[in-house]
Amino acid sequence: MSIFKKLQAKKNKSKIVCLTAYSKNVAEELDKFTDIILVGDSLGSVLYNFDTTRKVTLDMMIEHSRSVRKGITKSLMVVDMPYNTYRTKSEALKNCKKVIKETKCDAIKVEGGVKILEIVKNLIKNKIPVMGHLGILPQSVKGKFKSKGKTQKEINQLTKDALALEQAGVFSIVLEGIEKNLSKSITKKLKILTIGIGASVDCDGQVLVTDDILGLTKSKIKFVKEYINLRKYIGSAVKQFRLDVINKKYPSKKYLY
Ligand code: KIV
Repeated sequence: MSIFKKLQAKKNKSKIVCLTAYSKNVAEELDKFTDIILVGDSLGSVLYNFDTTRKVTLDMMIEHSRSVRKGITKSLMVVDMPYNTYRTKSEALKNCKKVIKETKCDAIKVEGGVKILEIVKNLIKNKIPVMGHLGILPQSVKGKFKSKGKTQKEINQLTKDALALEQAGVFSIVLEGIEKNLSKSITKKLKILTIGIGASVDCDGQVLVTDDILGLTKSKIKFVKEYINLRKYIGSAVKQFRLDVINKKYPSKKYLY
């Protein structure tokens, strides 16, 4: 059974676990516990301190994805297509083919619904597996992120977008910052998988930015749950190294040739 079919078989049975990775060592640890690893363009803010994901380039995504690929043996690997790399059918096809060829990822992710439908359809027609992304679309937001799906207009539009993406053939859709009842209702309406981020416990799976759950980013976003404060552990290890260096305890005999 293909990895896509195995994931799809989890719908209404067990949850899909998805996290982001930007490098091999992290991917290797995640892969023991995840179903999907996403090389998100969130790397722009997390690693490069950009104020928007719009500054992330295709080359940056490719380099990080090549590293991540080396750490994955079982999870499905999805790569975000960065801003301005899928504006037309031909631009999207050319760039997605390049990403797949150079990173050996299993699928790509693009942000948007009906507005990018023809582009998505063309990718799928050309055998490129696509993950959709609806709700808060970081590539389209200038300034503060606002949750979606509170007004009837938004409810109608997001439902229409989700159904259209499913019809176009995407294998899954990330629902980001969408009101919980709407997230549940979209998940119920779709046969494909929904992956929530600040959406609903009733989505088919959940995704978060790994650096956020590890406490590396000092994130204040409402939906982020920090599972450990890794900064503290880094601080105490580095402090100990400093003391060892200053007091000539490192390198001791054990570490020398
Ligand atoms: O860029 C990213 O990491 C994402 C996820 C948070 C869904 O798109």
